[in-house]
Amino acid sequence: MTSAEVPPVLGPTIRPRRLRTTPALRRMVAETSLEARQLVLPLFVREDITEPVPIGSMPGVVQHTRSTLLAAVTEAASLGLGGVMLFGIPTAKDAVGSGATDPNGILNLAITDVVAEVGDALTVMSDLCLDEFTDHGHCGVLTSDGRVDNDRTLEAYADMARAQAHAGVDMVGPSGMMDGQVAVIREALDAAEHTDVSILAYSAKYASAFFGPFREAVGSSLVGDRRTYQQDAPNAVEGVREALLDVQEGADIVMVKPALAYLDVVRRVRDVVDVPVAAYNVSGEYAMLEAAATQGWIDREPAILETLMAIRRAGADVVLTYWAAEAARLLAR
Ligand code: PBG
Repeated sequence: MTSAEVPPVLGPTIRPRRLRTTPALRRMVAETSLEARQLVLPLFVREDITEPVPIGSMPGVVQHTRSTLLAAVTEAASLGLGGVMLFGIPTAKDAVGSGATDPNGILNLAITDVVAEVGDALTVMSDLCLDEFTDHGHCGVLTSDGRVDNDRTLEAYADMARAQAHAGVDMVGPSGMMDGQVAVIREALDAAEHTDVSILAYSAKYASAFFGPFREAVGSSLVGDRRTYQQDAPNAVEGVREALLDVQEGADIVMVKPALAYLDVVRRVRDVVDVPVAAYNVSGEYAMLEAAATQGWIDREPAILETLMAIRRAGADVVLTYWAAEAARLLAR
């Protein structure tokens, strides 16, 4: 029966409020869960620093040293998080992002450190993209006239996938939005006998102002924008197409990013794919809420949990969020 067909009732007999009477009843009928295991904590590790460096636009988030990173992942494991997503910040950058494939590059070293520290207690994931390693800040290598060269970038991603798998990563996260990236990475991993390394594909990743604080977090050198490879905000059908293509190419998990301004895309993708769906609660979403809370304009802890619940309710099985550890603590209370 649709609501239009609900017969008129004499008096207040039908009372949805009954199911909201007590905390126990509300808990029993809750349609959506929010649990530590569904949360993934993104972490930044920077080469050549001896103390963690705070990120101004993301209060509470730091660039880790190799050793403080280990404390953070140990805590993440003890809180029962689903995983961590590692981002590396190299000292030297160049046109082709050599630091990304160098076995002694900061991200590859950090992967090995982290896996040695937490073993199988967490899923260890790594960003597979060149932007942190290139001096021009783009996610790929450039043609002589300055455009991002899709197919040459794919070769670099294959190398990067091999390097990360060799370092011991459980799951790679290609975030560069190059066409064919998932297929090329899957093939490279399989050919190198890393058939167990899985792929979390940034499938529907939109060119977004909400990535602003992240650019500070990784000391990005980008001038201009990523609009020739990341998606346009008006397009949701295209986001679904990207996700379906990634599943066809062998993605184990598909992701929508950012989360909050694209919850409709999360829902549409969830409704059509048969793999887990992740959503990335990005830096700008974090910064907005933290800034409002600092002003005393919003009640921080319930707002964090409501935000993460909204992303889950939209259809995300897994949520990447800078609040992962804190949310796990709040949920355990
Ligand atoms: C690319 C990458 C970005 C983010 C994750 N991976 C930045 C970008 O595409 O510009 C953004 C994450 C965030 O804003 O929290 N390596």
